[in-house]
Amino acid sequence: TQRTLVLLKPDAVRRGLTGEIISRIERKAGWRITALELRTLDQETLEQHYGEHKGKPFYEPLVEFMASGPVVAMIVEGERVIEGLRALAGPTDPIAAAPGSIRGDYGVIVRENLIHASDSEESAEREVKIFFPGRA
Ligand code: GTP
Ligand code: MG
Repeated sequence: TQRTLVLLKPDAVRRGLTGEIISRIERKAGWRITALELRTLDQETLEQHYGEHKGKPFYEPLVEFMASGPVVAMIVEGERVIEGLRALAGPTDPIAAAPGSIRGDYGVIVRENLIHASDSEESAEREVKIFFPGRA
């Protein structure tokens, strides 16, 4: 079994979509939310989380956006949950995301794409440590 780090981004919180998105995750058989917290991210946390994108043109606006309001941070555990949550989220660009996916149903702007989910087992372990150090 796997675990993954999920962030419901500030646009999801501002638009009142967190309940809807959490429901979709809860309804998947065999997945469990094992940690959940509403919090506003500081610069240090965001630098650690998005360090791989530092220097890219979208990095600064991305970090500014991610600090613009609270996010819901979660650990989700279960069978193939890493791949599964990426599929539930849809591709990074919401316009390319199929209806039925979270980004496909609610997103338009690439930066404001509602949800983050770890992209590999290595990323998941790294990100869980950043957001829930007690759960490492
Ligand atoms: P995350 O789950 O947030 O990590 O998204 P992702 O894995 O689908 O995408 P990636 O890690 O490549 O990029 C992180 C975030 O940066 C994306 O979710 C977008 O919000 C933003 N982003 C990525 N690529 C672009 C881009 O080309 N333009 C802009 N404006 N934003 C981008
Ligand atoms: Mg990513």
